[in-house]
Amino acid sequence: MKPLERYDGTVERTIYTDAEIASAIDRLAAEIASDFRGQPLLLLGVLKGALYAVTDLARAIARVPEGPSEIIVDYICVSSYGNATRSSGEVRLLKDTTETVTGRNVVIVEDIVDNGLTLEYLTALMAERKPALLRSCVLFDKPYHRRVDVPVEYVGLQCPDEFVVGYGLDYQELFRNLPYLAQLQPWVFQAE
Ligand code: IMP
Repeated sequence: MKPLERYDGTVERTIYTDAEIASAIDRLAAEIASDFRGQPLLLLGVLKGALYAVTDLARAIARVPEGPSEIIVDYICVSSYGNATRSSGEVRLLKDTTETVTGRNVVIVEDIVDNGLTLEYLTALMAERKPALLRSCVLFDKPYHRRVDVPVEYVGLQCPDEFVVGYGLDYQELFRNLPYLAQLQPWVFQAE
């Protein structure tokens, strides 16, 4: 079996290859490194979806010749209520930060922004803690169903108006480990 051939029966099409995602990460890293040159930075990954985005981004920033004076990576874990393919914005905090946010330069790293309610919740939660600077980085942007105007300073790739999986994004907890971004075949959603 060729690598990843086992997904042929479930994946409808590849939206972004792993190489395209890697170059988007490098571009985001260059932007963030330049904006925080010489300053400390706390990268706050939103689990589980941003598990690869934040680790790849942190390492890509380290490869930029001039960047932040230091980088700390922390995680917050949330789960959004809603149906299988759309969040309702009712967010449950499953794990808070372990690092202090107050007085720090913080960049929240999210996998995808769709209606914007999850990121709005996280931004408000972090803003209450009075960081020195608070920004957001989103790897995939789905701007079609935005319900709130939440600012995103760093945007990776535009995502079609589809439910997507891979590179951290799941359907019913599956497909996160797919190295590329994909659309699933319709039967997967009907098979419940
Ligand atoms: P929002 O609150 O609608 O902006 O959605 C944000 C969260 O919903 C993301 O962090 C994802 O966990 C999830 N989500 C939104 N769109 C997708 C998708 O296409 N595939 C998988 N998860 C998604």
